[in-house]
Amino acid sequence: MSKRIYIKDLKDFVGGEVFISGWVDVRRDQGKMIFLDFRDMTGIIQGVILPNYVETLEIGKTLRNEFVVSVKGKVNKRPERNIKEGILNGDIELEIMEIEVLNKSITPPFDVTSDGKEIGEDNRLKYRYLDLRRPRMQKNIRNRHKMAKFVRDFLDKENFIEIETPILTKSTPEGARDYIVPSRLYPGNFYALPQSPQQYKQLLMAGGMERYFQVARCMRDEDTRGDRQPEFTQIDMEMSFVEREDVMDVNERLLIELVMKLYPDKKIQQIPFPRISYKDAIEKYGNDRPDLRENKEDPNLLAFCWVIDFPFFERTDKSDNPNTEGEWTFTHNPFSEPIKKHKEQMMKNEKIGEVLTSQYDIVLNGYEIGGGSIRAHEAETLRKVLNIIGHKDEDIDKNFGHMLNAFQVGTPPHGGIAWGFDRLVMLLENEPNIREVIAFPKTGEGKDLMMDSPSPVSSKQLKELSISFTKKE
Ligand code: AMO
Repeated sequence: MSKRIYIKDLKDFVGGEVFISGWVDVRRDQGKMIFLDFRDMTGIIQGVILPNYVETLEIGKTLRNEFVVSVKGKVNKRPERNIKEGILNGDIELEIMEIEVLNKSITPPFDVTSDGKEIGEDNRLKYRYLDLRRPRMQKNIRNRHKMAKFVRDFLDKENFIEIETPILTKSTPEGARDYIVPSRLYPGNFYALPQSPQQYKQLLMAGGMERYFQVARCMRDEDTRGDRQPEFTQIDMEMSFVEREDVMDVNERLLIELVMKLYPDKKIQQIPFPRISYKDAIEKYGNDRPDLRENKEDPNLLAFCWVIDFPFFERTDKSDNPNTEGEWTFTHNPFSEPIKKHKEQMMKNEKIGEVLTSQYDIVLNGYEIGGGSIRAHEAETLRKVLNIIGHKDEDIDKNFGHMLNAFQVGTPPHGGIAWGFDRLVMLLENEPNIREVIAFPKTGEGKDLMMDSPSPVSSKQLKELSISFTKKE
């Protein structure tokens, strides 16, 4: 076969002969003629096998939807009455000369030409490789790529570098349950999968990298929801020698440019993004991720806002026993610095419940799409926070010694943020949940129906890991 032409480029070959490759999208057999729509990753073209191509007609009769083919054909202008305005290749068609079948397909379990909303989601996830062929999923996954690329290019220009951090790590106190991985070499010991690269990115600041980012996979063993997956992606970043304003500024510019460049039809309701204190958000809207859209019917309206001035600490188990106040725990991130005017108060252990953290959350149309803070970069500050939330000094040294040590050898002031990338893509693509913008998501019950995971492992594997367990009948 000669050089393959992408279907979207066929308009440049009117009157010429071309080769295309792709799938049979739709087949209409009219006996003497067969109409075939072909699809590749760039679009769809209508083709026809005319009665004089006798051999090709024979092959055409054997074709079914989702057969993979290479086709030689002539690109013709459509007669005036058949022109379809406003769709790709609406004014051309392919006069099919030869067809080579590259692979056959059994009757697929569902239609891939529709938007898929009529199909049960379990079925879509079980045959995700097929589901991904539908135009809506192609668009979502391709636009997701464009967004990630835009972010990478933008941050590169702003002197950030992309650095990978380990997936086999140690349990971190992000607030969710860890996924853990048994160590073969150290029986009874476990790695944890990262809930976020929080500690590593701070240690990169200790390492003089100054401006880091990563398209980071994060794993949290928590219940799955429409905007939550056990495994998700963050656009994670950290910067040295910055204050809250600097981090918010670069992120606000990035979000605005991304929307203007990739989603020009969308309108950002207010620039600069409004800022609301946690207290005001709760009082006015009843939650800390307010949906500020003036018109909720408009799918192209984007109401970003920053929520700031969160309390650093809150009581645990308030509800269980009204007579005890419970211990303190952190509301967002134990590695944060309090706001400047509350630092002294926190260090002296006074009015802990009133201490505000430097945390900032970015909210879009009622979804928390990101959050970050300025961090404690002095050992005493971090130790104090950990003390307040109930860690004993010896545990702190054992669990956070690496952070405290790093802070003692010249770690610069630093701060950062992480976006929930899946959520942002979901909102910009007007999808109802993040599963629609993730190539291989888990079900609501945390299953990969396609791979049938989680699944048992062999007793040999368990033995190597020194693991035995009693199976509940
Ligand atoms: P946080 O835990 O707030 O912060 O996570 C950052 C953002 O990630 C998104 N997110 C999720 N998206 C899909 N599924 C999930 N299970 C899920 N959990 C969180 C949210 C959230 O705003 N290390 C800190 C960031 C920092 O301080 O720099 C962190 O992970 O959109």
